[in-house]
Amino acid sequence: MNEASQHGAVPIDPSNTIQGFETSAADPSSSEAWQPVSDRKLRVGIAGYGVCRFGAAFHFQDHPNVTIAAVAELDADKRAELARACRCATTYESCEAMLADHSIEAVFVATDAPSHARLTMAALRAGKHVACAVPAVFGSLEDAHALFDTVRTTGRHYMMFETSYYHADLYCMRELYRAGRLGRVVYAEGEYWHYFGTPLASHEGWRTGLPPQWYPTHSNAYYVGVTGGSFTEVSCMGMPSHIDHLKPENNSFGNPFGTEVALFRTSEGGMARMAVSWDTPGQGGETGRIRTQHGTYYGNYASGQEGVALPEIRRPPLPPGVAAGGHGGSHGYLMSEFVEAILMDRAPLIDVAQALNMTVGGIMAHQSALHDGELLRIPQFNLGEVTSDG
Ligand SMILES: NC(=O)c1ccc[n+]([C@@H]2O[C@H](COP(=O)([O-])OP(=O)(O)OC[C@H]3O[C@@H](n4cnc5c(N)ncnc54)[C@H](O)[C@@H]3O)[C@@H](O)[C@H]2O)c1
Repeated sequence: MNEASQHGAVPIDPSNTIQGFETSAADPSSSEAWQPVSDRKLRVGIAGYGVCRFGAAFHFQDHPNVTIAAVAELDADKRAELARACRCATTYESCEAMLADHSIEAVFVATDAPSHARLTMAALRAGKHVACAVPAVFGSLEDAHALFDTVRTTGRHYMMFETSYYHADLYCMRELYRAGRLGRVVYAEGEYWHYFGTPLASHEGWRTGLPPQWYPTHSNAYYVGVTGGSFTEVSCMGMPSHIDHLKPENNSFGNPFGTEVALFRTSEGGMARMAVSWDTPGQGGETGRIRTQHGTYYGNYASGQEGVALPEIRRPPLPPGVAAGGHGGSHGYLMSEFVEAILMDRAPLIDVAQALNMTVGGIMAHQSALHDGELLRIPQFNLGEVTSDG
């Protein structure tokens, strides 16, 4: 598995490049078999160009079926940079102002994590389809239920851009699972290791002392993104951190933990160990692996029963001019999936139920860690049924 091993080991970068931001240029061969699903151009608005420059990082501006109708940033300099990067002349001083633009059909919310739920719901109510950077909500169960209800009542398409979903290895696991080649997942592991000895800059300091499991989607994707299932119960442990911003008196969350390791019960009845760590320097990564009834998938090593190698499955073609991009070559795929889902009026891969099942498991995990690993039930989000509290 070529890229699996590549994104499985992210070395410490002496230039302090943010982990996951290894990017690749568009590969002409990756679009060879691509077929447009429509000849229409979708009018997209983009909000947010912070420290990760996420607004332009998913290549909406390069998709043949997209026109960037407008961009929005609170900060004037970043707004100008985002407009330049997206080759778009129309700018707004905020996402909220952009939502009043009736010509815009879909919005990419690439703002700070605490604003995701509020801006996403405002956009949905304004009639827009929404793609949102992770996490779907920020530590709030109330926001999770409100977001779920808003997606259902507005009938707009919603997708969370969890980058692990299009890692080469996770893509392959999902295809094998869907084809029935793996049976049930007995055990899954995922981890997001990202050392923050000092907090990375962020809008109004939202990363300072961030509870690790409030940012759980990169790791949780290695179960939810394979099976489409959820976590039903969690017991999570944390260790009080030696890092200054991760001491409860030094952050607005009262969070004492820099590493939280969760053990989940899965909706298939199996187990998943999902870890997030900010205070352990060394090899970073957004990685995971699964052991299933019919095979084992460990990133760069896969085997089925009796040692038979599982087939390598390639990710789908990308539109011409669209690069796979950062985070294991996932950005272009996420954006294309969202655009295609809207053009075809079908559910996008990471719908609101999967987005919340990934995010809310982490919120409950942090709560469990604060209570010394108490086993807690997790609210379930299922688009086929009424939401319930587990
Ligand atoms: N692998 C991944 O999926 C991954 C990696 C990095 C970041 N992210 C996510 O991407 C998002 C952006 O990350 P970042 O580090 O750039 O965040 P950041 O805090 O540095 O930047 C947020 C930006 O949003 C702007 N903003 C805030 N409210 C706004 C509004 N109402 N209208 C317009 N602009 C507004 C701010 O001015 C700021 O420039 C975050 O949600 C983060 O969680 C995901």
